[in-house]
Amino acid sequence: MIVLHYLQFIILSICINSFTLYIYLVYYTDLFSSALFQDIEPEYDFIIVGSGTAGSVIAHRIATETNYTFIVLEAGAKGNVLFEIPVLGPLLHGSIYDWQYETVPQENACYAFNSKKCKLFQGKIIGGSSKLNNMVHVRGNISHYVDWFHGKFSHAFFQKQFEFIENNILNIDEIQYQSEMTNAVLEAAKKLGYNEIDLESANGFKRSKVSQKHGGRWSSSDNLDMKHIVTNVLVEKVLVKENVAYGVELLKSNRKMEVFARKGVILSSGTYNTPKLLQLSGIGPSELLKSLDIPIIVDLPVGKNLQDHVTTGLDLILFNKSLSVSIDNMLNLFHAANYFINGKGPFTTPGCEVVGFMSTTNAETPDLQFMVLPVGISSDKGSHFKKSLSVNETVWNNYFAKTYDWHTATILPIVLHPKSKGQVLIQSKDPKDAPLIDPKYLSVKDDIVTLIRGLKLVKQFIETDAMRNLGASINQMPFPGCHNYEIFSDKYWECYIKQLTLTSYHPVGTCFMGLPYANTTVVDTSFKVVGLEKLFVADGSVLPTLPNGNINAAIAMMASIFFDINIKTKTDAKLSRTNICSKYEFIHELVHSICVL
Ligand SMILES: Cc1cc2nc3c(=O)[nH]c(=O)nc-3n(C[C@H](O)[C@H](O)[C@H](O)COP(=O)(O)OP(=O)(O)OC[C@H]3O[C@@H](n4cnc5c(N)ncnc54)[C@H](O)[C@@H]3O)c2cc1C
Ligand SMILES: *[C@@H]1O[C@H](CO)[C@@H](O)[C@H](O)[C@H]1NC(C)=O
Ligand SMILES: *[C@@H]1O[C@H](CO)[C@@H](O)[C@H](O)[C@H]1NC(C)=O
Ligand SMILES: *[C@@H]1O[C@H](CO)[C@@H](O)[C@H](O)[C@H]1NC(C)=O
Ligand SMILES: *[C@@H]1O[C@H](CO)[C@@H](O)[C@H](O)[C@H]1NC(C)=O
Ligand SMILES: *[C@@H]1O[C@H](CO)[C@@H](O)[C@H](O)[C@H]1NC(C)=O
Repeated sequence: MIVLHYLQFIILSICINSFTLYIYLVYYTDLFSSALFQDIEPEYDFIIVGSGTAGSVIAHRIATETNYTFIVLEAGAKGNVLFEIPVLGPLLHGSIYDWQYETVPQENACYAFNSKKCKLFQGKIIGGSSKLNNMVHVRGNISHYVDWFHGKFSHAFFQKQFEFIENNILNIDEIQYQSEMTNAVLEAAKKLGYNEIDLESANGFKRSKVSQKHGGRWSSSDNLDMKHIVTNVLVEKVLVKENVAYGVELLKSNRKMEVFARKGVILSSGTYNTPKLLQLSGIGPSELLKSLDIPIIVDLPVGKNLQDHVTTGLDLILFNKSLSVSIDNMLNLFHAANYFINGKGPFTTPGCEVVGFMSTTNAETPDLQFMVLPVGISSDKGSHFKKSLSVNETVWNNYFAKTYDWHTATILPIVLHPKSKGQVLIQSKDPKDAPLIDPKYLSVKDDIVTLIRGLKLVKQFIETDAMRNLGASINQMPFPGCHNYEIFSDKYWECYIKQLTLTSYHPVGTCFMGLPYANTTVVDTSFKVVGLEKLFVADGSVLPTLPNGNINAAIAMMASIFFDINIKTKTDAKLSRTNICSKYEFIHELVHSICVL
């Protein structure tokens, strides 16, 4: 067996290394061609920083619905058609197309990873994190979005926005390929009293809906004409004069440049990089800016209020036979052909086949999400995930490596509304330095309690007839560092969670949207940075709370609203009226906030 595992490791490593080589080739080709052929004009109406989920929605709508001039400035490079193969997504994690960020050493979490740091993947590529994600499309609970805007928009308004992005910007499709585990989990869910649900309703289970076209990954950036995007430019600072943003300073091929914006600078650089950029520009917490000797433009809680969907549970399920989504299948040429010709088969797998929402406290609103993955990280015999997640060697050898004889799979129990909050702070004035990201995972005990309840539910699912008949059992191996506790007792699970802490890569909140006078607010409900003119933030960082589910759709929806209220209405030549309306809007928001809070 050992020899067989070693052989598998060698074969997989060869494949993965060849692909890595290919990744570098694509990257350097774009680097050279962007240096030679991509030009930047001195001035535009709008500058968009970042071509991720949000930036691409805004760019697409400006391009197709207005005559404004604009440019999208992207720090990453252009991708490639092979990167669109869903099953290869994880190979971009930790690559040159990832910002390669990680948490600072965590006090209560991430013990199983080197130096107690969890990796935080974020796309550095045209399309941003939507080129690295699992493509799962969930709307979330629309009432939460009504609250974000303090009642400024109705439930129906958000529904229309979702319909708009689903029909015009994303390509939402049924999942194209599922392993046997899907039916088993859905059957188990029915047995345990959970319904099948549709797009919007909470509490229940469903097959994943995915953002794919012909089985390939589809991102909002795939709508864009490349002439609007300049790649490999790092925006280093927003230029502000007398509290009006008038452009950005950037680095292109090692040359500093300034580009000016007549109507506005729109930051869509994501939840870690937007606060970094604001802080570098002198917009942030005054104590931080003072300590780094950065002149303060506005004192705002930029970078605070970081929230993330924390989870655990990798490889907790052992199957006594291989499932149809497995690493071996990925080396099968027939499946490759099926993908390229028909857009079907195991190559289209988003990783997550089923999502479920439930309450661990019998409440009506869910506090837990399940993501069902037909594989575990030990499936690759240590050739990729161990490195990309930076799993501690001792932990790998004493836990994950011991399951090589089984097919491992995973049900992630995800805390939908964690109470632990962290922060993102720059560590120096150098824009090339990574920010210090401290999500403070599990610093509030309630999050651990919810995860323990979640793991007990996972165990219940594994022990249903439907799962057992498929050959599933729970991984009984005590997790390294937790041997002293009785297995599957609350104390054991607590230890396990602190060791094997994971994120579903859904950071939000660092440029909190709220009422202008609240002490957490960075942008108002028009996406405008408080205290400044012509400076907007529209991306994951403005979400003041985590949605009920995967967040990509909510971010795309927010970007679309940003366009509607700040760019489109102004084109509609109703300028004089909007001014009066905004006064009423403010009163309306005030009333809502008094009633709701
Ligand atoms: C591994 C992973 C799996 C996920 N799975 C799912 C899922 O299944 N379903 C779901 O709904 N969500 C998922 N998400 C979350 C979702 O994809 C992200 O939340 C979303 O893409 C974030 O969009 P954004 O526009 O805020 O930022 P991003 O898409 O990250 O875009 C930011 C862009 O700005 C660029 N940028 C940053 N700084 C600068 C600078 N200084 N100068 C120039 N450019 C800059 C970046 O390179 C990037 O392209 C996942 C995320 C990850 C990482
Ligand atoms: C854009 O310009 C064209 C040509 O001048 C004009 O016909 C069109 O109405 C304009 N569109 C918008 C949205 O202003
Ligand atoms: C890995 O875990 C072992 C045992 O807990 C610990 O002694 C060691 O310091 C860890 N290594 C790293 C790099 O964190
Ligand atoms: C959505 O959220 C609201 C407000 O928190 C809550 O009252 C409602 O029950 C939730 N809906 C569902 C279906 O969970
Ligand atoms: C796997 O487990 C199932 C259920 O316990 C059993 O029926 C089956 O024979 C086992 N298969 C193998 C290959 O051991
Ligand atoms: C905001 O005010 C509340 C009390 O009203 C306080 O608990 C909190 O720490 C403040 N937050 C910030 C970021 O100053």
